Amino acid sequence: MKGSGAATSPAQEPTLALEKLELRLLLEAIHGSTGIDFRGYSPASLKRRVLARVKAEELPSISALQARALHAPECMQRLIAGITVHYTTLFRDPGFWVAFREKVVPILAGERSLRLWVAGCSSGEEVYSLAIVLAEAGLVERTRIYATDLSENLVEQARAGVFPLRLMKEYTANYLAAGGTRSFSDYYSADHEAAILSAALRRRIVFARHCLATEGSFNEFHAILCRNVTIYFAAALQARVHELLFASLAPAGILALGRAEAMRGLAHEDEFEPLDVRERIFQRKSAATA
Ligand SMILES: C[S@@+](CC[C@H](N)C(=O)[O-])C[C@H]1O[C@@H](n2cnc3c(N)ncnc32)[C@H](O)[C@@H]1O
Repeated sequence: MKGSGAATSPAQEPTLALEKLELRLLLEAIHGSTGIDFRGYSPASLKRRVLARVKAEELPSISALQARALHAPECMQRLIAGITVHYTTLFRDPGFWVAFREKVVPILAGERSLRLWVAGCSSGEEVYSLAIVLAEAGLVERTRIYATDLSENLVEQARAGVFPLRLMKEYTANYLAAGGTRSFSDYYSADHEAAILSAALRRRIVFARHCLATEGSFNEFHAILCRNVTIYFAAALQARVHELLFASLAPAGILALGRAEAMRGLAHEDEFEPLDVRERIFQRKSAATA
């Protein structure tokens, strides 16, 4: 509807239509040249982030950015990194981890061997938080965790398990708020500016690149964490990912979403029970109750 909200003036409309076309062509170009498919992402935040790259590259338009990105691989890498949001922390949303310890760990403890998936793991903070919680529950030795992300660079960073030492004070506070009772410094060694997470935490984790927009299911999991990832997707892509996560969950498996992500309206909504509504933790109904 024209004229609602932050209305655009008739004079702006040709520019906006052109930008929309340029954005569509840019996404086609990224897909054609790298295989990475941002076409199903939510257009408003996508455009904001692309325009930020236009400015950072000191270019006049999205088309100019497209031309540079196609001819200069470094520019393409900067663009891809700039389009996705990587923000994460160790024990992000401590309340989630309290709920995970109280409500999910007892369910997982009933399994003899466990497969877990952290989809959209960014630089690894979430998967290491998970490994710490499982280690403290005595479950890590029987667990294999798959940690995947769209970005090869982020997967590499996650695999390295090295974080800025200056963040450890904040992460220690998160860990304690998340129900941690040990000394957090036992989990890393300090080397100049870096905190290197203990190799014991890394041993049970498989890191790999995987794209939720284009690839399929690769295993059946007892729990999947896909938090703060689909919030950037438009409805059709959210539905695709929901389908993929559902297909990847064992009966009675756990699905954890981000606080701003909903199950409402998605195809398999009725096949889940909420385990913790606020922390968006759901359990797939077992075959008998579905
Ligand atoms: C905001 S971070 C969330 C990280 C972590 N899950 C957390 O909650 O702290 C979103 C991550 O999703 C990844 N991502 C975006 N699109 C993706 C896709 N199509 N497939 C897999 N990962 C994707 C991004 O690369 C980024 O690392």
